[in-house]
Order: sequence, then C-alpha cells, then structure tokens
Amino acid sequence: MNKKEIEDIEIHLLLEAISRRYGYDFRNYAQASMKRRIKHAVAHLECEGITELTGRLLYDESFFQDLVQKFSIPVTEMFRDPEVYRGLRKEVAPYLATYPFLKVWHAGCATGEEAYSIAILLKEEGLYNRTTIYATDFNEAALNTAKKGIYPIDRFKEYNTSYFESSGTRSLSEYYQAEYDSVIMSQTLKNNLTFARHNLVTDESFGEMHLILCRNVLIYFNQELQDRVLNLLSKSLIRGGFLCLGAKETLLGSSVQDQFAGFNKKLNIYRKKIE
Ligand SMILES: C[S@@+](CC[C@H](N)C(=O)[O-])C[C@H]1O[C@@H](n2cnc3c(N)ncnc32)[C@H](O)[C@@H]1O
Repeated sequence: MNKKEIEDIEIHLLLEAISRRYGYDFRNYAQASMKRRIKHAVAHLECEGITELTGRLLYDESFFQDLVQKFSIPVTEMFRDPEVYRGLRKEVAPYLATYPFLKVWHAGCATGEEAYSIAILLKEEGLYNRTTIYATDFNEAALNTAKKGIYPIDRFKEYNTSYFESSGTRSLSEYYQAEYDSVIMSQTLKNNLTFARHNLVTDESFGEMHLILCRNVLIYFNQELQDRVLNLLSKSLIRGGFLCLGAKETLLGSSVQDQFAGFNKKLNIYRKKIE
C-alpha cells in the first residue's frame, strides 16, 4: 500500500470519528478541498499527522471547535456580487410584495454580512417590517460575530461601492454607526433578523420560506451531498418561492431540477414551480 492510500484511510477514519463523536458530517464534502483543509489543520494545530489529529479531537471538545473553524471557511462580504442583489431587488421583490408576511432563510450565512445586506434591501423595498429573516450556519464563532454585527471599518469602502452597484437607494452609512476602527450595524436591521445554528448536512428543513439564499456553500460539497442539501432547501420553500445560489453553483442536473423553473439563470435565481 502506498503513502497516499494510507493517508486516504487516515482521512476516512478522521471524518468517521468527527461524525460519530460530534455529529458533524464532513464525509461528503468535496474531496480535494477537504484534504487541503485537513493538511492545513495538521500544520496549524501542531500535530505529527492526521492520526494524531483524530486522537486529540476525540478527547478534547475545544480542540474540535478549533478544527471546525478550519473546516468552515466563513469568508463573506456585504452585497457580494451586487448584480445578484440588483436582480433580487428588481425582479424578485415585486413578487415578494404580493405576500402579507415573508420568511427569508439565509443558509450558510458565515459572519452575517449578507444577511444584513438582505435586511437593507428589504427595508428599502418596504418589505422589511413584514419579514422574518433566519440566518444560519454551523460555525458558532462566525454566528457570534453575526449576532453582534460589528465589522472592521476598512472594508466599508468596498461595501459602499457594492451597495450602489446593487441599486441601493440611500447611503449605506444610514445603516450603521462608526466607532473607531469598527462599524456597528443598526438595531433596526437586527429586529427581524434571527441568527441560529443549523447544520445543512445533519439538521432538518426549515419550512415555508418565501426566499432562500444559499450562496457559496454547495461548492464545498460533493455531488451527492449537493443533491441532498438542494432537496432540503426545496422542501423548505413554499410553492412559488425563490432560491438563490452562488455564482459557481447550479441546481441544473440535480434531482430537484424539475421542481424549479429557471427564473434568472444568469444570476442563479430559481423559482419553485407553483404546480
Ligand atoms: C464561503 S462561506 C459563504 C458565506 C456567504 N453565504 C457568502 O456567500 O458570502 C461558506 C459558509 O458555509 C458554512 N457551511 C459549510 N458547511 C455547512 C453546513 N454543513 N451547515 C451549515 N453551514 C455550513 C461555513 O461555515 C461558511 O460560513
């Protein structure tokens, strides 16, 4: 048996151990990027190799929490891909406006910047007061940042540009307070926004959503897991509800494809069929 084959066994055992000990299932994450992240974790958590990593996390829960951080990649930004927000504002919001109340689910929200962006968009379209936004992730540390809504001020120049490119109608600075080198998102955006832990691989569907955003999350999953998660997202949507995926993601070719009509395929926005 060569070194690579032995390493594959070690990775299999590591992911099995995580699943059985902590209930986090990484077994169907895309292999190449998972391997990279495991090697990165071995180096940064100062382990001799993957087997030592497995042994340590089995007995030390806080060590496992550090590892989840390394596996999670909570990279995000406000109004990421502004053309998508423009599409949501111009094309999707008029449909949303026909409902007396709205439920929006932001799945894989990382540190929350996108959830605040959606809150701003809904506010400007006059829909925020009738909306509940659920923003979820499995990364507790990222969720804590999201709940506080405090972000480094140096990113806001770029966010301001994206906000305008998304057809923002006011000034982004109306939605936060600047303090030293940070900004604090306004309480009015937080009122209808709930951040909660949810694992897309192991937890249940959310139910009766009018709009679900799950962007730049499926790229980390293999085809089988993408299919399973897309099923969960579809189950969580009302008929006629909207699903927005990331730029490199699609539901074309998945087992839920027939449940959706392409709404704006260029922006990866789909609408669940009414019938
Ligand atoms: C690259 S970020 C994307 C954040 C945001 N949606 C965006 O597009 O800017 C991917 C997020 O997916 C989350 N994630 C990965 N696997 C997950 C799972 N099984 N359940 C819930 N969230 C998960 C990670 O913790 C991370 O915060």
